[in-house]
Amino acid sequence: MKKRVKQAKPKKSATRSTKVTRIKTGIDHLDTLIGGGLIEKSITLVAGGAGSGKTIFAMQFLLEGLKLGESCIYLTFEEKKEKLYGDMAGFGWNFEKYENDKHFFYLEHSPEQVKALIEEGGGTIDQLISKKKVTRLVIDSVTSFYLLYQDELSRKEAGLALFELINKWGCTAVLTSQAAARKDDLLNTSLEFEADSIILLYHFRARGERKRALEILKMRGTSHSNKTMMFNITKAGIVVHPGQILKSS
Ligand SMILES: Nc1ncnc2c1ncn2[C@@H]1O[C@H](COP(=O)(O)OP(=O)(O)O)[C@@H](O)[C@H]1O
Ligand SMILES: [Mg+2]
Repeated sequence: MKKRVKQAKPKKSATRSTKVTRIKTGIDHLDTLIGGGLIEKSITLVAGGAGSGKTIFAMQFLLEGLKLGESCIYLTFEEKKEKLYGDMAGFGWNFEKYENDKHFFYLEHSPEQVKALIEEGGGTIDQLISKKKVTRLVIDSVTSFYLLYQDELSRKEAGLALFELINKWGCTAVLTSQAAARKDDLLNTSLEFEADSIILLYHFRARGERKRALEILKMRGTSHSNKTMMFNITKAGIVVHPGQILKSS
């Protein structure tokens, strides 16, 4: 006897919610490796040592949004505005122009200020995001914020509160994280469990020469390369070379 299986009709809302919007990173050849870009409203952690390219990665991501007419926030604890704008001008990226156009917002906060902001549920950033319809957010870097908290439990709580706030804001976020070039070093924070995606940037020495490589450690809802790929910082910013795989660790 044939079993009759009652098939539920797919709900309209369910169909709609499976459609994922991809947000282009603006990093050459990276988007094609991750299904078209970062998932809209997701949180990506870009981790690497000093000089590994985190700030350039983050600014390139924001620039892509600005070119598309989006509004973006760059929140930093450590990068001075003039120096940052000067460095980015080296790539031909004019953030001052977007700032004057009121599409780009450079915010320098102390970790204490961000702590207070989280406690009050968003404060001034909240207003800016809704008023300017901000779609991309960078925090460069979350490490200094994290270091405010002494013990692991309060760090974890603070990390969760920060992620909750970013989720409430509904921006696609890139958070940079200072980490030595070893995966294990990342695992002492709770951020990596909460982040939707983790991209590791390596800057290592091989035969007397410094090289750069990028690894997608995880990316929720995305089939991605498991290879560690070489990249360069060129006149036009970061360019990934998907065909050049790092063979030794
Ligand atoms: N115009 C450029 N062309 C090539 N490489 C550059 C250029 N500007 C910066 N770099 C490289 O990028 C590094 C800084 O990258 P950055 O994103 O600031 O690192 P991080 O934020 O991870 O400390 C520099 O040390 C230099 O090696
Ligand atoms: Mg930096």
